[in-house]
Amino acid sequence: MSNPYFVLNLQGLKRQDEDQVTGFCFEHGAAGIHEDLKFIQEFDHYEPKTVYDDELKLKVYFESSPPEDFLPLLVAAFPGVVAEINQEESQDWLELWKKGFKAFALTGDIWVVPSWLETPADAKKSIRIDPGLAFGTGTHETTQLAADMMAKHCTFQGQSVLDVGTGTGILAILAEHLGARLVEATEIVDLAREVAKENLQLNQAKNIKVHDMQIQQLDGVFDVVIANIIDGVLIELREQLEARLADDGVLIMTGIWHERWPHFDQHFLQKTKLKKVERFQNGDWLGVILRP
Ligand SMILES: C[S@@+](CC[C@H](N)C(=O)[O-])C[C@H]1O[C@@H](n2cnc3c(N)ncnc32)[C@H](O)[C@@H]1O
Repeated sequence: MSNPYFVLNLQGLKRQDEDQVTGFCFEHGAAGIHEDLKFIQEFDHYEPKTVYDDELKLKVYFESSPPEDFLPLLVAAFPGVVAEINQEESQDWLELWKKGFKAFALTGDIWVVPSWLETPADAKKSIRIDPGLAFGTGTHETTQLAADMMAKHCTFQGQSVLDVGTGTGILAILAEHLGARLVEATEIVDLAREVAKENLQLNQAKNIKVHDMQIQQLDGVFDVVIANIIDGVLIELREQLEARLADDGVLIMTGIWHERWPHFDQHFLQKTKLKKVERFQNGDWLGVILRP
């Protein structure tokens, strides 16, 4: 079902007028206001930083056509503003996105199957995923790189595994398919932990536990430690990752942006006693396998 609504694109506004402009629009019946912000992700912070331009560009939403005097009053109050109005049809974006998300082979004959679709006949094993708002549909290059490194270059049969930054739980579930006897997982985003726990149920995973604790609070060591997280965070977590690795364990990491390899090399690889076994690449992303 779709309903028409009106979008007013405003350009040429000054950043310092932001509060007045938004107040003015709401006073004249706007139902919502949106600004496309730019972000940068710095080396050593997972959370991106917002970059504010001097020029303010807004999309102002109205449920019906704005009042007739709205535009003349706006231009008078904010000289230089350029306004364009369009009528649009509302869509159920989540439903649209779901239609585009198809089952696919993640690695070998292990498939990712959206929870709302039937498992295809070719899928000998499947990871059923409802991603919600968590990272880990399996379509990202880093997840695919991690999956290939796990399935093609490591042994999981009978191993204990720690998945740091589990997102939807996709790699934890893959580890169980590959024969892990026990998988523990951590995730800093509360909502993602809930999504991961639901996906464990969906997959009837018996040997996986998603912790509410973070890696710093965990004890014990694991035969395999996996972390697909942006490189700066891997650097921050280096000592914790090392501490959770068994003496003959294997550490699998992806999420290293190719341009930041020298930085990662300097701040992780040259500081660790672990030895680099092999480096892998998928698109612009790199991964490494390390062993004691
Ligand atoms: C690139 S996603 C990987 C998700 C999933 N493992 C995959 O491979 O598709 C990285 C995940 O790590 C989480 N994360 C970031 N920093 C973390 C930390 N210090 N400890 C645990 N999880 C973290 C993020 O919230 C995100 O869900």
